[in-house]
Amino acid sequence: VTFAASHTGQWAIDSVSPVIGETLAPGSRLSVSEGAADLAADSIWTLRGVTSNTRYSNRTEVDRLTAVQEGLGRPQATLAALIPIRKSAAWWALAQDERRAIFEEQSRHIGIGLDYLPGVARRLHHSRELGEPFDFLTWFEYAPEHRDQFEEMVRRLRQTREWDYVEREVDIRLSRA
Ligand code: HEM
Repeated sequence: VTFAASHTGQWAIDSVSPVIGETLAPGSRLSVSEGAADLAADSIWTLRGVTSNTRYSNRTEVDRLTAVQEGLGRPQATLAALIPIRKSAAWWALAQDERRAIFEEQSRHIGIGLDYLPGVARRLHHSRELGEPFDFLTWFEYAPEHRDQFEEMVRRLRQTREWDYVEREVDIRLSRA
């Protein structure tokens, strides 16, 4: 999946806010393309990621998520957020079980996220193995009536121990007619 900021694309870029680390340049529109992307020659920046298998969710969690989550592209979901994230060397030096413990037992990432389903639809993209500037491209779609809840969720997640390991994060908000 390729996210490209330029002057064309389905989504209007409403804001680009640095959370931690270096920000990204603001563009006017964002295009999201799946598969081989036909890249605009004039793109301001391009970020690539792939959807993948789960790493941290256990069976119970997967079942809970599957029971309530909704897919992307709902007509009423006219707002979106693209939040690229890079984690620190300290995070990647941990063992899988240590990362899982921080992610869920200590930070309750899935527990918090579940409070906001099905209002928020999401898709996680992995970028680390592609040699990209971020490890993850997180994508969310929601209706204007869920805007406040989305803000609350992001605030809660950023207060967790997991976020101590986030060394670069940019918060890009979008809308479509
Ligand atoms: C809509 C509510 C949310 C739910 C239900 C949710 C759920 C999940 C789940 C289940 C995973 C683990 C996937 C796996 O097993 O590999 C995950 C990973 C992740 N989520 Fe969320 N999430 C939500 C919101 C967010 C938000 C708002 C952000 C960013 C501000 C975020 C950032 C991430 C990142 C960066 C990862 C990858 C973590 C890693 O592999 O180290 N999530 N999320």
